Amino acid sequence: MIARSDDYVEYCRETAKHARKLHDLALRGRDNEKVTQIIHERIAETVGLNSNDDLVDIGCGDGTMLRIAQQRGARSAIGLLATEEEVALVRRTGVDVRQGLSDLLPLPDACASVVVCNGVLLIVPRDRIHASLCEIARIAQPGARVFIGEIPFLELTDPTPQFDRPSELLRHLYRKQGFRAWLGMVRRMAWSGLTGKPFVLSPGTAHSFFAQPEEFIAMAAACRLESVHCWQHDHPSTRNNYLLRKPMVKAEVA
Ligand SMILES: C[S@@+](CC[C@H](N)C(=O)[O-])C[C@H]1O[C@@H](n2cnc3c(N)ncnc32)[C@H](O)[C@@H]1O
Repeated sequence: MIARSDDYVEYCRETAKHARKLHDLALRGRDNEKVTQIIHERIAETVGLNSNDDLVDIGCGDGTMLRIAQQRGARSAIGLLATEEEVALVRRTGVDVRQGLSDLLPLPDACASVVVCNGVLLIVPRDRIHASLCEIARIAQPGARVFIGEIPFLELTDPTPQFDRPSELLRHLYRKQGFRAWLGMVRRMAWSGLTGKPFVLSPGTAHSFFAQPEEFIAMAAACRLESVHCWQHDHPSTRNNYLLRKPMVKAEVA
């Protein structure tokens, strides 16, 4: 019997432990470095990232956004990652990364003029979304630009096939991901057999959160983030991108 876990943080940890390339941490599939670069260059354009900015990238993947910020001469650029295993790999590239989850950011109030959170909230459990948006608002300076990308507007069913027998799973892995992935799974299964610990499969493809634009914009507004613009993501086209803004503090009426 194969138990399944949708704990995405554990999936990120496993990915880091077995990463062959830094880009594996972007979870965008093999040989998609160019796509990751283009997506982040577009985000930098959208938020108008410049040399006066202090950037925080929540769930910064392989650190592409941080390197773009460095190239643009941003004053500071901090990336957050779900696990220390990811942090250890990305830190080697010389960028400032720390471990932190979206609903409890290890950063002071009003430290960012730009906050980016791309391809992350869709894997955060729904009951942590309000806390995550309020944390984003807390670290954003008045007037800060906030980019939140790839929020599905449809509920997606987990596309990973279900396997009842280990041999089916192994056959599938060999066909789809090759010998290395097959061998890794054989080892995990053998370890589980030897230790008697349950064998848990983390598909890492199930989404926790989706929202129609009206609902997401209302959730952001509840944390005092104003909607500037919402548009459909290119690929997959079942997701939306949002540019939000933290309002300026109103001058006190005398
Ligand atoms: C799909 S990758 C997206 C990476 C990058 N933002 C990009 O667009 O290429 C998901 C990222 O979210 C991070 N992550 C996963 N769960 C998280 C959580 N609960 N809070 C913050 N970050 C999380 C992971 O460390 C990983 O870097």
